[in-house]
Amino acid sequence: MQKIALITGSSSGIGLLSAVELARRNYHVIATMRDPSRRERLDKAAAEAKISDRIEVAQLDVTQPLSISHAVQQTIRNHQRIDVLVNNAGFAMAGFAEDLYLDEIRKQFETNFFGHVAVTKEVIPFMRAQKSGRIIMVTSIAGRVGQPVVGSYSASKFALEGWSEALRIELRSLGIRVVLVEPGAFETDIWVRNVEIGKLAMDASAPNHARAQRFSEFVKKNGDKGRPSAEAVAHLIGKVADHPNPKLRYVIGTDAKMALWMRALLPWKSYEKMVEKFTQIG
Ligand SMILES: NC(=O)c1ccc[n+]([C@@H]2O[C@H](COP(=O)([O-])OP(=O)(O)OC[C@H]3O[C@@H](n4cnc5c(N)ncnc54)[C@H](OP(=O)(O)O)[C@@H]3O)[C@@H](O)[C@H]2O)c1
Repeated sequence: MQKIALITGSSSGIGLLSAVELARRNYHVIATMRDPSRRERLDKAAAEAKISDRIEVAQLDVTQPLSISHAVQQTIRNHQRIDVLVNNAGFAMAGFAEDLYLDEIRKQFETNFFGHVAVTKEVIPFMRAQKSGRIIMVTSIAGRVGQPVVGSYSASKFALEGWSEALRIELRSLGIRVVLVEPGAFETDIWVRNVEIGKLAMDASAPNHARAQRFSEFVKKNGDKGRPSAEAVAHLIGKVADHPNPKLRYVIGTDAKMALWMRALLPWKSYEKMVEKFTQIG
């Protein structure tokens, strides 16, 4: 029997590459995106990999409850099951906490936290009935180690980590496994097209404008050094989907492993001084 995988945010980056990876592993993939007119890149990648017949595109915006239930119900009507859910959709809100409006921080949580909660809650009853399933949460190293200037992004990922840890224990005896995939920085659209800078943070009158400019220069300089291809993350997601008994956490990326290592090894006061100096926000 062909397994069914549903992925959110498949129009670019990790979601797109995971759709191709899972189709290569013989899953039938429901590659969802909030705007299906953006499917061209996925169609091209699927055609190159010769797996177009194993990928179908469906509309799903994780902040729109009706679009979530429609996509999930349609998948069940057409395929009767969902074996793997990849909660991947996300964006990054940037700006010093003092310069961000509360609405902007809430918006970050609506997508990166409540969006995944809503899709997961829609899918659980079907996995419960089939007595099996994998729920893969694409979180981030920013959900393990707080990162300045993207504090709201970090907080949304910390929230998802905590919720998923508890959910894993709740669902274990039902035959459903919850897994956290925690990437460091990889080459995708997230720091290009899907980064939102707070409205006030962009303004010269913002209390932290000068520090934000310095930080932005730091990001540009580091981004220019080149980030690794996100294919490695998609490959890991494929491995986790197929694993008979996956772990709770999978960290991926040298930078992510280094951050965890330094956070564990250094006393907090040394660690915070080092981050402040490295990011030039002091
Ligand atoms: N790349 C990294 O360095 C990195 C590191 C750690 C974690 N991550 C996580 O990886 C996940 C995927 O990001 P990515 O790096 O692959 O970036 P990406 O290329 O920007 O992809 C993000 C995807 O999420 C979609 N999306 C945003 N808001 C949505 C919504 N409300 N409903 C449905 N889809 C929505 C985007 O759709 P549109 O095309 O419509 O904008 C896009 O398809 C995110 O959760 C991110 O936090 C990325």
